[in-house]
Amino acid sequence: MDNFLSRVRTLTHSSIEKHRLAFNRFEWPEKIQDDMWWHSPDALSIATSAIENDWSEEQKMALAKWECINIFSLNYTGELELMQEVSRIMHEVKLGEAKEYLHHLIDEENQHMWYFNKFCQTYAGKVYPSKKIQLEKQKLEKPMDHFLVFARVLIFEEIGHYFNVVNARDKRVEPFIREINEAHYHDEARHIAFGRQVLEQLAEDAIVDDNAADFVENQLDKSIAINIGSIYNPQAYRDAGFPQGVLLREKLLNDPSRMFIHEKKMLSGVKRLLGKCGLNVMEETAA
Ligand SMILES: [Fe+2]
Ligand SMILES: [Fe+2]
Repeated sequence: MDNFLSRVRTLTHSSIEKHRLAFNRFEWPEKIQDDMWWHSPDALSIATSAIENDWSEEQKMALAKWECINIFSLNYTGELELMQEVSRIMHEVKLGEAKEYLHHLIDEENQHMWYFNKFCQTYAGKVYPSKKIQLEKQKLEKPMDHFLVFARVLIFEEIGHYFNVVNARDKRVEPFIREINEAHYHDEARHIAFGRQVLEQLAEDAIVDDNAADFVENQLDKSIAINIGSIYNPQAYRDAGFPQGVLLREKLLNDPSRMFIHEKKMLSGVKRLLGKCGLNVMEETAA
């Protein structure tokens, strides 16, 4: 516990020192032109897939706009859920003084929600609603409940982080959008470091036997499938001019090269950590 507390103390300090108030941080342009990359071509949901080369540069740019809106919408709706869940358990979770960090987490997510929502509404006139199927709410023992809350948060944040990283470092991406990805990247790097520490801390009380491990693995496999699935939004494909969005989504979700990106670029960190907690979450297999 001592090591854990001292690491979280460092993160708390860093949140206080480094976090910049988002509300007056950015110069919001009046408009973002459609002939700019709103999202890195490397971060597109068709990138590296078998069908990527069938798309013209113009079509990719149209898709980039709506996938930027999709990922920012997912950030917004996911952060809202994260805040609700973390607030629900924050005064009972057994983290000692490290609980203090949860106030910084919620504070920072509140600001992220503000800018992602404002961005989508201002430049696209909408936020895509969350399509996440509500996972069945069960009455769980507290240690299990708390572990699952933080594990789901970590899955969501590590996938989101992939997009922050790729977009922040790609010079082709429109500068204001890069700036938002970069700002989010810095805050999320701390949240992910915190989340990894917390899960190791909570694992012992939550995963008490093989049954508990099976249950958690099953729950987290579902969470991973939902989070990965939400990257492939049929409505975003339609908005970008591709009417057969559902078909495209199915094709991409089963594309080996996309599955490689899910496993190796988006989920490898969280899966390694879950492995350290004695869990074995599944590799994706083509349907
Ligand atoms: Fe965030
Ligand atoms: Fe976060």
